[in-house]
Amino acid sequence: MSRMAKLELDGKVYELPIVEGTEKELAIDISTLRSQTGYITLDDGYGNTGSCKSAVTFIDGDAGILRYRGIPIEEIAGKSSFVETAWLVIFGRLPTIEDRERFSQLLTDNSRLDESMLKQFAGFPPNGHPMAILSAMINTLSTHERQEANTEAQVEALAATLISKVRTIAAASYKASVGEPIVYPRYDLKYVENFLHMMFSVPYREYEPTPEVTRALNLFLALHADHEQNCSTSTVRMVASSQANMFASCAAGVCALWGPLHGGANVAVIEMLEFIKASGMPVKEYVAKVKDKQSNIKLMGFGHRVYRNFDPRSKILKKAADDMLASMKIEDPLLDLSVELAEAALTDDYFVERKLYPNVDFYSGIILRAMGIPLDMFTVMFAIGRMPGWIANWKEIHDDPKGRIYRPRQVYIGQTGEHWAPREER
Ligand code: ACO
Repeated sequence: MSRMAKLELDGKVYELPIVEGTEKELAIDISTLRSQTGYITLDDGYGNTGSCKSAVTFIDGDAGILRYRGIPIEEIAGKSSFVETAWLVIFGRLPTIEDRERFSQLLTDNSRLDESMLKQFAGFPPNGHPMAILSAMINTLSTHERQEANTEAQVEALAATLISKVRTIAAASYKASVGEPIVYPRYDLKYVENFLHMMFSVPYREYEPTPEVTRALNLFLALHADHEQNCSTSTVRMVASSQANMFASCAAGVCALWGPLHGGANVAVIEMLEFIKASGMPVKEYVAKVKDKQSNIKLMGFGHRVYRNFDPRSKILKKAADDMLASMKIEDPLLDLSVELAEAALTDDYFVERKLYPNVDFYSGIILRAMGIPLDMFTVMFAIGRMPGWIANWKEIHDDPKGRIYRPRQVYIGQTGEHWAPREER
């Protein structure tokens, strides 16, 4: 017998079931509230609304915990490659050697884009935003691939196609934007090395990534693989709930990720650090500006809707950034500035009281910069990393026989009692 919550409303008492997750988080199931009471709930920004039950990722924001399929992110980071992490996130278990080999082969076999798609890159303006191109090209991809997802093998093939081709699209859009010839994938390279090859090789010079760069990029992508019901993942689920296909749903996720309050924050962090450096503004003065609500600026890369503690990914990435820069003997003044800024904020009452800590974007930009990834490609890198999470969430909706289309309600606050009037009387 499940526990019940009691709600007293207009003199009547209603009972609503309490749902308990496997990590003991508690929710009141209000799915019968409207039919029982005539009321709906209102929760701007969904801060208190569980939109679904999901078995992909667990976050405890107060304790700074992140787990993919029950495994702590600290255990995955550095041990599992991005490809292994992707399979874990999508299929819910660590891949066996056979699973790994099959999935890797699928990724390799599907890395090339159809020639007609390559021609499309010429149609975008040279300064067209890579996130717009990515979303458009993922939709284009859905016109090339049959979206059959009736068996696990078909879902795996579709997932591999999307994860593989997204990387090719990203590199091709970069090449088109800098006026260099598009580089074809190589069949002898692994996922991350192949991406770096397509990004940085030119016909007269082959790019050879260092092991540090390969390791750091694998880590960056694995740390971004999923993050529960954030803005873009909720968007993917919303689109998926209409039974839209995997590629169309993930293209919508790219658009949601683009904004500066979500995936675009990694760009905003570097722009902020560059501004502070160029203006010569003391860090304390910048922090004071951020605290002033009239200024309407935020400390980018700080704060998180769910984490009221250190984002565990930011701790891992900070160490990776330090190691990578040291091993590559890169001195980046922006890294020093980021350390100074983090120290100033972490000891400031404003940030302490509000429990605002560095999030994943605070350090990821430093890593991507050191690899030579251009600033306007940062959010694209995030999108490549997040693809497994979007696919896993799409799959949950797709596999749910009781699934219903997502359709929130609203409280209408517009005009009432208005009437149409002829043009001459308005
Ligand atoms: N700088 C200054 N003040 C902040 C910041 C910040 N980065 N973040 C939150 N605050 C303040 C808010 O103004 C608010 O102050 P108040 O209580 O005096 O009104 C208080 O802290 C609480 O913040 P919330 O409004 O509850 O934050 P919310 O959960 O709505 O937003 C968000 C979270 C969007 C991440 C916010 O912290 C932010 O804008 N951060 C900067 C952008 C960023 O780094 N985004 C990346 C997020 S991670 C990701 O998507 C991968």
